[in-house]
Amino acid sequence: MYKKIRKAVFPVGGLGTRFLPATKSMPKEMLPVLNKPLIHHAFEEARNAGIEQFIFITGRNKNSINDHFDHAIELENFLEFKNNKDMLFLSKDCLIEPGNIVFLRQQQPLGLGHAVWCARNIIGDEPFAVILADDMFIEDRKCGILTEMIQYFQSDTTANIIGISKINISESKKYGIVKIGDGDIVEDMIEKPEVSDAPSGLAIVGRYILQPDIFYYLKGTEADKGGEIQLTNAMKKMLANSKFRAYRTNAYRLDCGNYLGYLEANVRFSLQNSEFSEPIKEMLKNILG
Ligand code: UTP
Repeated sequence: MYKKIRKAVFPVGGLGTRFLPATKSMPKEMLPVLNKPLIHHAFEEARNAGIEQFIFITGRNKNSINDHFDHAIELENFLEFKNNKDMLFLSKDCLIEPGNIVFLRQQQPLGLGHAVWCARNIIGDEPFAVILADDMFIEDRKCGILTEMIQYFQSDTTANIIGISKINISESKKYGIVKIGDGDIVEDMIEKPEVSDAPSGLAIVGRYILQPDIFYYLKGTEADKGGEIQLTNAMKKMLANSKFRAYRTNAYRLDCGNYLGYLEANVRFSLQNSEFSEPIKEMLKNILG
């Protein structure tokens, strides 16, 4: 029985249509919040949680993500020449031990479920984490939601854990919604329901710990009306034979998959940053008169 979560999957193969035209040739996951791209924040969260193997599911126009996790030789030479240690550290901080970084190509963006399924041969037979870089959180402990979820998982390593967070139920159509039974046991989940069909105001957020059985269910999951294979639909089928526990976070969620959430993330992260907090407060005061 595996107790440690060693591997994390980062699906980054989507088209990012909500961010067009910015994402026409640039991956959504490379949009920066403060000075780090979304995917870099996600990587840091995983590294803080003790993840050892980083598996990126990429697609066309996503090569800058590969480059971000590689050496930038000219830049490093230049910074070494200038003896600029701080910047050199920033440039090299996301280098992953050789052999522990995998880029898999999802040749067609057939949905989040399909992206996760692409990782099956790399994951093998052990539970693993999935992190969606466009879901960010602001929390008191600052260790990251994934760290908390992995701790939670330790109490029952046979279960799957899904991160959930309260939403305004009028927005149910944007999320996977869960029905919780006794304690934290998930009884049902529905992908993007109408408000009238939503079993609760609790939405799945972009953090999962999944047992490898999920690949069997993903393989058998049909595409939805929009042509996408949904992870929620595969998990719903798996519910019949496998336990799903909900990890409810009270951390403030920032949906960086749309403009407003992304802008808010930049403002909130700036306000939390010792260097930028005062200047940004001044700036906001000026803007608001
Ligand atoms: P999203 O639905 O937020 O991303 O998927 P998207 O499809 O790129 O964005 P829109 O809706 O068109 O604006 C959540 C995550 O799953 C990845 C995305 O890259 C994103 O990080 N994803 C989505 C894949 O890896 N492959 C897919 O086929 C779909």
